[in-house]
Amino acid sequence: MTKPDYAARHTRLAEALASVGLDALALNPGPSLVYFTGLHFHLSERPVVAVFSAAGDVPVLVLPELEAQKLKEAAFELQAFTYTEDLASWPRAFAAAMQAARIDGRRVGVEPRSLRVLELRLLEQAAPDAAFVSGEQAVAALRMRKDAAELALMREATAIAQRALQATLPTVRPGVTEREAAATLIQHLLREGSDGELPFQPIVAFGPNSANPHAVPTDYTLREGDLVLFDWGANHHGYFSDLTRCFVAGEPEAELARIAEVVRQANAAGRAAAGPGVPAGEVDRTARRVVEEAGYGAYFIHRTGHGLGLEVHEDPYIRGDNEQRLAEGMTFTIEPGIYLPGRGGVRIEDDVVITAGGAESLSDLPRELIRLG
Ligand code: CO
Repeated sequence: MTKPDYAARHTRLAEALASVGLDALALNPGPSLVYFTGLHFHLSERPVVAVFSAAGDVPVLVLPELEAQKLKEAAFELQAFTYTEDLASWPRAFAAAMQAARIDGRRVGVEPRSLRVLELRLLEQAAPDAAFVSGEQAVAALRMRKDAAELALMREATAIAQRALQATLPTVRPGVTEREAAATLIQHLLREGSDGELPFQPIVAFGPNSANPHAVPTDYTLREGDLVLFDWGANHHGYFSDLTRCFVAGEPEAELARIAEVVRQANAAGRAAAGPGVPAGEVDRTARRVVEEAGYGAYFIHRTGHGLGLEVHEDPYIRGDNEQRLAEGMTFTIEPGIYLPGRGGVRIEDDVVITAGGAESLSDLPRELIRLG
């Protein structure tokens, strides 16, 4: 498998930071730190901060001494500063590290949704004249476009999820509860090779519960004629898949079969519309038009999709008001749905990657409403 080239990612980051007027980027443990270092740190009471410079300096990392053995896994040059269990050593390590990173008096990007007050205070103490502002845009610009190594991981995350569902389906028959089906699916995800930390708790919704896009598995027992909705995903080395497929127990009511066909067409139209240079919003509008023309516009109550990768929701968001243009390597979901309250809902979700000529679906499970049993 292709190994990520972290030095190349740092070079691209330096360019991205410079282009938005930032001198550096400070990250704490999370998806972006994994993206730029390949190192997995838990977000804990002991702060870990990495600083990358727009000038191309060697990245700086502050971390607890007890985690220092992880540095051996770093596939790039870095300057590490460790602190001990003695709390007084924390600000000392941050002061030395930020001096090496030369951030005082500079504009430093951070991730406002991830960096905690704990890290921010230590950074501010170490560099009192630095300005800490959002660097999200620069990070998103890079992370959105997946390279070959990332795409290989996402393909495998998708394949694992598909195998897990196929292994689960034979056990889903009238009398089974949503909770039991969810337990079986989770077991198969792990057996098929998913990492233990699933991207999200699978949604398994039967009958009227499928009309709730964010249903949680209950003790509801599957009955003849019920729709069966699975929204699930696997984690492969930190990269996620996120799929939805619907089935029916026995014979579906005519209108439920009808909405399943409309959603299938909306999903296909969305996938066909996606391509390089196309505004993200156009994918949403194209899928939505199919649903509206069939008379179900009022029952498609969410955006068409979201970016996917190291996070289950990331840029680019596939919503009607997002005019951001899609580009090769971007990965996101296309998941139109129709939800008839009290009766049932259908959503069909694929994970796609933008290619040179269009969009390729990483997922290929059948999209028709298949009868179980
Ligand atoms: Co999704």
